[in-house]
Amino acid sequence: MNIRPETTVDYLAIAEVNNLAFGRENESQLIAKIRLSDFYIPELSLVAEVDNVIVGHILFSYIELFGEEKLQVLGLAPMAVHPQFQKQGIGSALITAGLTKAESRGESLVIVLGHPQFYSRFGFVPSVNYGIKSSFPVPEDVFMVKPLNNYQAKYQGKVIYPSAFHQV
Ligand SMILES: CC(C)(COP(=O)(O)OP(=O)(O)OC[C@H]1O[C@@H](n2cnc3c(N)ncnc32)[C@H](O)[C@@H]1OP(=O)(O)O)[C@@H](O)C(=O)NCCC(=O)NCCS
Repeated sequence: MNIRPETTVDYLAIAEVNNLAFGRENESQLIAKIRLSDFYIPELSLVAEVDNVIVGHILFSYIELFGEEKLQVLGLAPMAVHPQFQKQGIGSALITAGLTKAESRGESLVIVLGHPQFYSRFGFVPSVNYGIKSSFPVPEDVFMVKPLNNYQAKYQGKVIYPSAFHQV
């Protein structure tokens, strides 16, 4: 398996993997909208290839945290692995590669809405532990954060997702 940043020629294959994994097109449409926005980070849209075929994808993009000041943090969403390649460690490898890249960029914090048992393996903890809230009602244990090396205590407040997320 090889993990690398996406290029424009990957867009169709990435959409197909997301459509298959989620069984709908909302997530591939979300990815397309994020790419057109100021919140897109090309080097944090990663693909996993097996035999040069894209079988997995993960996207980290900017979302805003409103506290005493407005801060940019990373949101992990969406992530998808082709159904025939799930449960082989590809999703975990994509998360680990993304977190390593995020650290190397000097990012401060990653936010994810997802399954606690899965994401806690990578150091995600409930966001309330860090004084960070979702702007929409969601169970506390599924809204999680992972502070990176550059994390500072000022990273508190309410997370506001960009408009691209509103239709998902
Ligand atoms: C979530 C997903 C990307 C994980 O990819 P993967 O390559 O199968 O992940 P890994 O093989 O690294 O890890 C699999 C582990 O994650 C757990 N897991 C994966 N999805 C899970 C879910 N929705 N709920 C609970 N646990 C989940 C599995 O139980 C498995 O645990 P195990 O290691 O104890 O067997 C993949 O299952 C997928 O594409 N799902 C559909 C899309 C989706 O729900 N994306 C996440 C929300 S953005």
